[in-house]
Amino acid sequence: MSNPKPNSAEARDVLFHLHSQTNPGLHAEIGPLIMERGEGVYVFDSHGKRYLEAMAGLWCTSLGFSEARLKAAAAAAYDKFGFYHSFNHKTPDLAIDLAEQLVALSPIPDAQAYFATSGSEATETMVKLAWVYHAARGRPAKRKIIARDRGFHGSTIVAASMCGLPRMHREYGLPLPGFLHTHCPDAYRVSLPGETEEAFTDRLAADLEAMILAEGPDTVAAFIAEPINAGGGIIVPPRGYFAKIEAVLRRHDILILADEVVCGFGRTGNWFGCQTVGMQPDMMALAKGLSSSYFPISAVLLGRPIRDALAEMNKAGELFGHGFTNSGHPVGAAVALETLRIYHEMDVVSHVREMGARLKAGLEAIAARSDIVGQVRGEGLMIGVELVADPLTRAAFEPALKVGAMFDAQALQNGLIIRAMGDTIGFCPPLIINAAEIDETLDLFARTLRTVEAQVQTHPSQIRPGQAAE
Ligand SMILES: Cc1ncc(COP(=O)(O)O)c(C=O)c1O
Repeated sequence: MSNPKPNSAEARDVLFHLHSQTNPGLHAEIGPLIMERGEGVYVFDSHGKRYLEAMAGLWCTSLGFSEARLKAAAAAAYDKFGFYHSFNHKTPDLAIDLAEQLVALSPIPDAQAYFATSGSEATETMVKLAWVYHAARGRPAKRKIIARDRGFHGSTIVAASMCGLPRMHREYGLPLPGFLHTHCPDAYRVSLPGETEEAFTDRLAADLEAMILAEGPDTVAAFIAEPINAGGGIIVPPRGYFAKIEAVLRRHDILILADEVVCGFGRTGNWFGCQTVGMQPDMMALAKGLSSSYFPISAVLLGRPIRDALAEMNKAGELFGHGFTNSGHPVGAAVALETLRIYHEMDVVSHVREMGARLKAGLEAIAARSDIVGQVRGEGLMIGVELVADPLTRAAFEPALKVGAMFDAQALQNGLIIRAMGDTIGFCPPLIINAAEIDETLDLFARTLRTVEAQVQTHPSQIRPGQAAE
């Protein structure tokens, strides 16, 4: 930020606005990038510069940045009323319609939908429901939650405790006691030299079981996982991973919670990520793509055993002691219903498969000509490109070189928004992206990569063998 005018938006932002996931000191120095408007997959900053938003904002605006039908759906809902709630036997009518639609899509049989407003609230709600489930069945000591390294589940205290990213814990003395982490199924980084995929997943399942036995199976309530890790670096588990993990969990009466906040609604080439990776959850958390983030709304889908446990727990007439003011908000429900209608009309699953294959093939072709791409991985329109110092040995760059951040800055200059997670470059574009826009994404990526390659070649001493990128 070069000498901003005292009353400029940039100066006022630094003075008055605390940003999420941002270094405060650096922000005061460089100021904000102010975005003003969007058109399809593009956003425009306050100087009129256009960016191809290949991250759909925060993995969320599946329908792009200017879907008029969502605006109209919100307006129509506001015409009826600005708010109604779902406490104490009341409900806005549209919340019923949305619940019915979600249950129809749900891979969990005989499900019900519970509404909240953020992904964090949804993942935390699943933890409370897991506790209720075990308590109602006479096992109140089953309370511990096992999550995974490099998982992301939100920012509230329990959700952050479930994250497997040190940056979510460092300032707060988290995780809370009773929140444990097992391996991330990243075969590229976590497998041992010479270990086959089969042996790798066997080891992860065995280590999970050892953890459960050491903690005491009677103390473990649930296991939570994103079907494909998003913020941890877009990690696709090896085939067969979830089947082995599931066998361990079922043996010890431990619930399986799917965090579908990013993977849900077509993102991975199926309606839900759990269908892509062969995961059979007892509950799932939905947000982001549920409304294309045009309104803050999230949901938990819970199966029959959880519903029965809730009824049992409250059989003497007590209330289910949980709820958010905006659970089932009528405007959120209207926007989500219209979002679902559009997904059905565009046949979101087929479209994502086609566009995802085009994006992945293009990235692989670029990777084949590059000296610094170690792996291209992902499913559907959720793809990560891991940059490494040496693709043959998988040697990572020296973290101080901040190759990912370098790529991010260069991409921004080129008019492309990606997400750098360590040295993995993430793509999670709006699901409406078309073939020409995929090709433009690829051109911008290739151009950025060429510049970054030239920059890192001037720093060969920064290479540190064998380090994970995140
Ligand atoms: C997988 C996953 N779960 C949960 C969350 C938390 O959602 P929210 O920020 O809406 O609380 C996120 C947010 O990025 C996420 O990526």
